[in-house]
Amino acid sequence: MMNHHQTILAVDPDSDFLEWVERQLQNSKTRVLTATTSDVAFKIFQRDKPDLVLTESRLHPFSGLELLNKIRKEDPNATVILASAFVSTQAVIESMKMGAFDFLRKEQLPFNLKIVVDEALRAKADMRAAVSFQPQLTVEQHQDSIVGQSPAMEQVFKMIGRVAASTVPVMVTGESGTGKELVASAIHHYSPRSTRPFLAINCAAIPENLLESELFGHERGAFTGAANQRIGRFEQCAGGTLFLDEIGDMPLSLQGKLLRVLQDGEFSRVGGNTTIHADVRIVAATNKNLEKEVADRTFREDLFYRLNVVRVHLPPLRQRREDIRLLAEYFLSRLAARSHTPAVRLSEDAVQLLESHPWPGNVREMQNTIERAVILANTDFLLPKDIPLGTGTDTHPAMVSAGEEISVRQAIEVLLKAAAENKDVPLLPWLEEEFTRHAMRVTGGNQVRSAKLLGITRATLRKRLERFGVEKAAS
Ligand SMILES: Nc1ncnc2c1ncn2[C@@H]1O[C@H](COP(=O)(O)OP(=O)(O)OP(=O)(O)O)[C@@H](O)[C@H]1O
Ligand SMILES: [Mg+2]
Repeated sequence: MMNHHQTILAVDPDSDFLEWVERQLQNSKTRVLTATTSDVAFKIFQRDKPDLVLTESRLHPFSGLELLNKIRKEDPNATVILASAFVSTQAVIESMKMGAFDFLRKEQLPFNLKIVVDEALRAKADMRAAVSFQPQLTVEQHQDSIVGQSPAMEQVFKMIGRVAASTVPVMVTGESGTGKELVASAIHHYSPRSTRPFLAINCAAIPENLLESELFGHERGAFTGAANQRIGRFEQCAGGTLFLDEIGDMPLSLQGKLLRVLQDGEFSRVGGNTTIHADVRIVAATNKNLEKEVADRTFREDLFYRLNVVRVHLPPLRQRREDIRLLAEYFLSRLAARSHTPAVRLSEDAVQLLESHPWPGNVREMQNTIERAVILANTDFLLPKDIPLGTGTDTHPAMVSAGEEISVRQAIEVLLKAAAENKDVPLLPWLEEEFTRHAMRVTGGNQVRSAKLLGITRATLRKRLERFGVEKAAS
């Protein structure tokens, strides 16, 4: 018997593929074991303790993700690489969260199999194996998926999976409309905190004097007008995730207080002297260049380093054009689902037009354009002439970053246009959702105030929130 240094277990239903892997990797130093089903693979793993497992994610009788999970339970330091022809956002995030070493596209394997395997084995030898997370089997199917197949977005998905289980602060950067808030909520949804609140606060939208009390709350009589005690976001969000949007606009006076929360996990309400413990995971976002703000002394350096432990950068859409077709199809099918109609299809020319547009307002601009195109076009097939590029006010990024006001205004604009053209569009459910989300956003998730704002009872609001899958805030 040959004395091998290392053993690799390759798992795939396709035995031709396994043979190919064997030919690539088997040599005097390396032994390759194979299995075509997950149950056999797991038995081999238990018996032979391979140094590396390379597995397809679509397997029988249980999936590659489950195989990963079982293996990591058996040996938390096991090195597992998933490779699949079917790559979904969720699978990438979940597998990284369960401690996979990497997730690869199968079509890339001919080019990088040896490189990746070498890297993984070296990492193992260096005891740098992927950090062992407590695996969570429940796969949250949350409402807003993040769509993308560009290498840049795949990196983002892997990052989300890697940081989900911990509580380290995450800094999300990127131009307006690139999906920063979506990433923040995905981090929350894939984390063990997912049953607790996810609250967002826009530091740029709230006047300086109110922001402190919004975040930390105040005691009765803390300042003129403070008639009652108020619980701030840090307390409402206990156990959950707080999304600090536009962190670059947080006034210097408040940055010190935030730093204290991050360092000591403590704060006190405005006008109060009781120390309150904060169990909150912070995700911050900005489209500013914070390094520059630090150099200009408008952003505290110490706070910057505290927040910037992990950075997720979202490249502008024009730098990941591979995602455009996929996003367009995703938005079309989501619109169809909402209006209970068959999905509008895209002509090849329309796709090309979308792919060549610079999208200064990024994904948000594209989403709005698609929604408008569907409403304005008469057919169930979009042609280039149906796509209103660069006409609406929202194509200007500065206008887009004004935030929530826009979507309601756009809803009205769309409604008026449809009315003017005497079109029968199933807009009402969509508007209802837009308004409900808007109300929850502007009231900071306060259901009593949202219901009042919408002129409906709290019970009706609750039903809608459930139907739309809107995050409930602690009330
Ligand atoms: N990869 C994606 N897949 C699906 N939808 C996306 C994606 N990226 C962004 N979106 C959608 O585009 C819109 C804008 O995203 P989001 O609000 O997260 O952007 P943002 O970076 O926070 O923008 P801003 O800086 O203007 O606040 C949202 O409706 C979001 O759902
Ligand atoms: Mg945002």
